[in-house]
Amino acid sequence: MQPEYIIIHQQVAPYVAHIQLNRPKELNALNLGLMTEIKEALKVLDADESVRVIIISGNEKAFAAGADIKQMAGRTAMDMYTIDQFSTWDTIKKTKKPLIAAVSGFALGGGCELAMLCDMIVASETARFGQPEIKLGVMPGAGGTQRLTRAVGKAMAMEMVLTGRFITAVEALQAGLINRIVPVELFLQEAIKLAEEIAAQSPLAVKMAKEAVLKAFDSSLEEGLHFERKNFYLLFASEDQKEGMQAFIEKRTPVFKGK
Ligand code: HXC
Repeated sequence: MQPEYIIIHQQVAPYVAHIQLNRPKELNALNLGLMTEIKEALKVLDADESVRVIIISGNEKAFAAGADIKQMAGRTAMDMYTIDQFSTWDTIKKTKKPLIAAVSGFALGGGCELAMLCDMIVASETARFGQPEIKLGVMPGAGGTQRLTRAVGKAMAMEMVLTGRFITAVEALQAGLINRIVPVELFLQEAIKLAEEIAAQSPLAVKMAKEAVLKAFDSSLEEGLHFERKNFYLLFASEDQKEGMQAFIEKRTPVFKGK
């Protein structure tokens, strides 16, 4: 079935897929349908051997202006508990392949949280990041108090979460929230370039390296180092390891097959 709220571009470059949020009139507000479609698309793309890296973007004006306030406004606590919309986010988090957020314009509330759920963020000069939930009488609910704090530190996270102030792309870069800033007309192109660079590596090594970096966020140093070492050793079971090291010795470019 065709998705209603997103567009899936299968091969925007070799091994690179692109999910575009497509509710432009609502600034890509994340309603339940849209989040479910992202979850389903990621499940399919994560299992697809012709895809190694996935980009998520909105449009020039908005990555996403947050959860759909109109859909949420009348809900009771029991509705929220029963619908449990954040369980979708747990599934998205399990994506093994690298996710790159290409952000232009607003990345607010759930939009900022979705970008932070990705592994890297490429931003346009017009990107604005914020957690304005406090102005709605609530607070971030999908990682805004945790991932943002880990990314930008306590001082800036507190200010953003308690005042709802948006930060610019330059502030976000300085704080370590994003990877790079490019002119608005290039933000998707730049994300594709980054994705291609990663897609040229061994997809097995990439997945295990991603898993190990993420482990740093929820484990002790000792546990994380142990996990890293285990993945490193495990990669010696792959043909890609033989190919990568042999290619270095033969002074040629390796061809990785994901085996
Ligand atoms: C529903 C939204 C929306 C949202 C914008 N729209 N954001 N609808 N949910 N989060 C709609 C507007 O109602 C409007 O529709 C249309 O999109 C264009 O928005 P405008 O406000 O007219 O645009 P502009 O003046 O340019 O202002 C842009 C904006 C503002 C600063 C981004 O729209 C805004 O403050 N949006 C809400 C941001 C926010 O609070 N996000 C956090 C949501 S809570 P109509 O039909 O009126 O023209 C959240 C919880 C996270 O994310 C939980 C995890 C999922």
